[in-house]
Amino acid sequence: MKAAIIGYGKMGREIERILAERGHQTALIIDLDNAHELDAEHLKGIDVAIEFTTPATAYANIRTCLECGVAVVSGTTGWTERLAELQELCRERGGALFYASNYCLGVNLLFRLNRQLAALVARVGGGYDVRIEEVHHTQKKDAPSGTAITLAEGIIENLPGKTGWVNFAPGIEHATNRVERSEETPADRIEIRSVREGMVPGIHTVTYESEDDTLELRHTIKNRRTLAQGAVVAAEFLCGKQGVYGMDDLLK
Ligand SMILES: NC(=O)c1ccc[n+]([C@@H]2O[C@H](COP(=O)([O-])OP(=O)(O)OC[C@H]3O[C@@H](n4cnc5c(N)ncnc54)[C@H](O)[C@@H]3O)[C@@H](O)[C@H]2O)c1
Repeated sequence: MKAAIIGYGKMGREIERILAERGHQTALIIDLDNAHELDAEHLKGIDVAIEFTTPATAYANIRTCLECGVAVVSGTTGWTERLAELQELCRERGGALFYASNYCLGVNLLFRLNRQLAALVARVGGGYDVRIEEVHHTQKKDAPSGTAITLAEGIIENLPGKTGWVNFAPGIEHATNRVERSEETPADRIEIRSVREGMVPGIHTVTYESEDDTLELRHTIKNRRTLAQGAVVAAEFLCGKQGVYGMDDLLK
């Protein structure tokens, strides 16, 4: 596989290592200093571009790749309100696009358990309320995390009474959908609490609490390797395909 890496930060560097380990060629690396090279000429002969940049740049990067007929795997979070637009463009052009808010296998197992647990709670009742907490390193640019949003969406689909989410993110300026105090969270919203500390790669906890007990689902990522590996496996999966894919397709 001949790959391009778009975004040569923490994830891009790890992805380069995994590509080499799995016998693939990294033929092009794009970062801020050579962003103008993301064009048809430089993308010629590339089988797949792997994009991990910033919420402000992901949309344009992916669009360029699709317009140049190059398959794209993206994991950039914090911009996905425009993802559907690119999925549509991809279908129109007969291109290939893979997006996941989290490429770690364990997190994707958590997504499934989370949906199942919400459906079970919907069936049995029990007076539970649900909340989510996500903890990440201080350099993270978006809040809440894409993974926490996917968890919230999984609950909203399965638990009547929850129709949306809010973000309680003390001290984080760029949070979306924020409430200033936990007490402001309406009963029909899931509160996602965001915490930024140290070098934490990612901890997600879904908590159901009643007057009598607390039930938690928690996932802790130990390193970025698992995320980079998932993105490279997604690129292998996408190669030679047309269409729009996500982790559920890969795990099938
Ligand atoms: N889906 C997942 O599994 C997953 C896992 C980890 C991180 N992420 C997300 O991926 C993104 C990147 O994470 P990171 O930890 O590598 O961040 P990072 O800040 O270490 O790296 C981002 C890189 O993108 C570069 N960049 C900025 N604008 C660019 C442009 N226009 N073209 C090319 N490169 C550009 C920056 O210079 C930087 O090197 C974030 O949104 C993060 O939340 C997703």
